[in-house]
Amino acid sequence: PAYDVLVVGSANADLTVRVERRPGAGETVLGTDLVESAGGKGANQAAAAARLGGRTALLARVGGDAFGELLLDAQRAAGTDTTPVIVDETARTGTAMIIVSPDGDNSIVVSPGANAALTPADVAAAKDVIAASAVVSLQLEIPMESVRAAAAAAEESGTRVVLNPSPAPEAALAPELLSAADPLVVNEHEARQLSGLTDGTPGEWAQALREKGARSVVVTLGGEGALVLDGSGVSEVPGVRVKAVDTTGAGDAFTGALAIRLARGDALPEAARFAVRVGAAAVTKPGAQPSYPTLDELNALSGA
Ligand code: RIB
Ligand code: NA
Repeated sequence: PAYDVLVVGSANADLTVRVERRPGAGETVLGTDLVESAGGKGANQAAAAARLGGRTALLARVGGDAFGELLLDAQRAAGTDTTPVIVDETARTGTAMIIVSPDGDNSIVVSPGANAALTPADVAAAKDVIAASAVVSLQLEIPMESVRAAAAAAEESGTRVVLNPSPAPEAALAPELLSAADPLVVNEHEARQLSGLTDGTPGEWAQALREKGARSVVVTLGGEGALVLDGSGVSEVPGVRVKAVDTTGAGDAFTGALAIRLARGDALPEAARFAVRVGAAAVTKPGAQPSYPTLDELNALSGA
């Protein structure tokens, strides 16, 4: 294949402020100076894969504005092929309003902007790029019908699908989408929501999701690592101890790293072990894309 990974998904400008504590309803709090950086779950996955040396392409929509430029520049700097990116002069680039608390946790509100205009027709136009990729990586910040179109096109051309159903959907995932996922990558919240199990363990959630049709499942457990379930059974990947500065986009770094290792032929547990290290590296620095490591940076990071 010409590409290890094609990411089909969102691109957002992240507008981040750190606060001592989150404001409640009707409350105003003061934060730090505003930081603008490159984000969006799709663009983040692509940047993560590209910085790690993967041959990566991105299909996304940005507006014809300064934020769109910022996002394209960040992708090119990471090494992503941005040829499939559509600059939509009639829409604003997606933006994410992010507040980060002292423990590194975040709250995010996304205004989709141009992401909402990424259509199944855009996906159909990228059919050859999908077929020329080993892995297509998907999330849910673009219209669901476009995600489904990308999964269907990937299946048709024998391209492996990695699906991170984030933000967690209100409704159940379409069965064809779930059964295309190899793996489905979920955090604990998404695992509960999509498995329908409010109690239980990561192993039970993964099992339930596999029974619902996912070919394989990875449950990410933050600092505790990840649980992998595939045809050869369950593997537990231990976490890597780091000091969390900003967890924004760490899950996307994990998924981008996982996708590239799968594209290169790793078995899922092996790919997850690598991805846990990349996710850990990403939480040690502020922002999403600005915190993603190259292979050299990853190997230099003691602990990770
Ligand atoms: O997953 C983190 C990302 O979510 C941020 O970069 C933000 O843009 C939102 O899409
Ligand atoms: Na980070």
